[in-house]
Amino acid sequence: MSKTKIAPSLLAADFGNLQQDVEMVNNSNADWHHIDVMDGVFVPNISYGMPVLKAIQKHATKPLDVHLMIVDPDRYIKTFADLGASILTIHYEACTHLHRSLQAIKAEGMLAGVALNPHTNVSLLENVIQDIDVVCLMSVNPGFGGQSFIENTYNKVKALKELINKKNAKTLIEIDGGVTSKNAAALTNAGADVLVAGSFVFKSENPTQTIEELKNIAG
Ligand code: DX5
Ligand code: ZN
Repeated sequence: MSKTKIAPSLLAADFGNLQQDVEMVNNSNADWHHIDVMDGVFVPNISYGMPVLKAIQKHATKPLDVHLMIVDPDRYIKTFADLGASILTIHYEACTHLHRSLQAIKAEGMLAGVALNPHTNVSLLENVIQDIDVVCLMSVNPGFGGQSFIENTYNKVKALKELINKKNAKTLIEIDGGVTSKNAAALTNAGADVLVAGSFVFKSENPTQTIEELKNIAG
């Protein structure tokens, strides 16, 4: 029985056939739909927003793992709850009052996630780790799919796992960016619980089979 969750990132889907790609994920062995919302300010790219999320929600049957790469995410917590997000992840670097934001996410009935850019040290979460359901370690600089995996991520996974254990927290570790069949096993061995994969899944010949492959390799 596999314990690692696989979250295909719809950023790499065919937006002209979004329903088809969402249904592929529904019918696959994936665990979550990963949805990247970018504002062109926090990151140098704009992806999609509420109307597209609404369309995705209409067809999705698995939990929506919404990754907000936006400034001042507090403004939209309720909006994303209403759009059906199960996990709402905000960036550490975008929050002045992170603890308050996490409370607001949970008050809306969602799991609270915090994403860290590649340069952000995991030790900065020491005082708030027990309040976080998912830490998303960015293994590329956020903003684009299809980038190369940053090798220092392994050190961050290990350091984060130590912090979680030290604090007796139940936090899941999610890895986002450049995940492939080549690094999946090493990531889960280091302590990762959720693997996000965009290009590796959607640019492959048989995405359903690729998800299965990742699931098997990750263990
Ligand atoms: C990047 C996004 C990722 C992206 C991953 O800013 O947060 O979720 O879709 O894409 P790949 O797997 O292609 O690196
Ligand atoms: Zn993401």
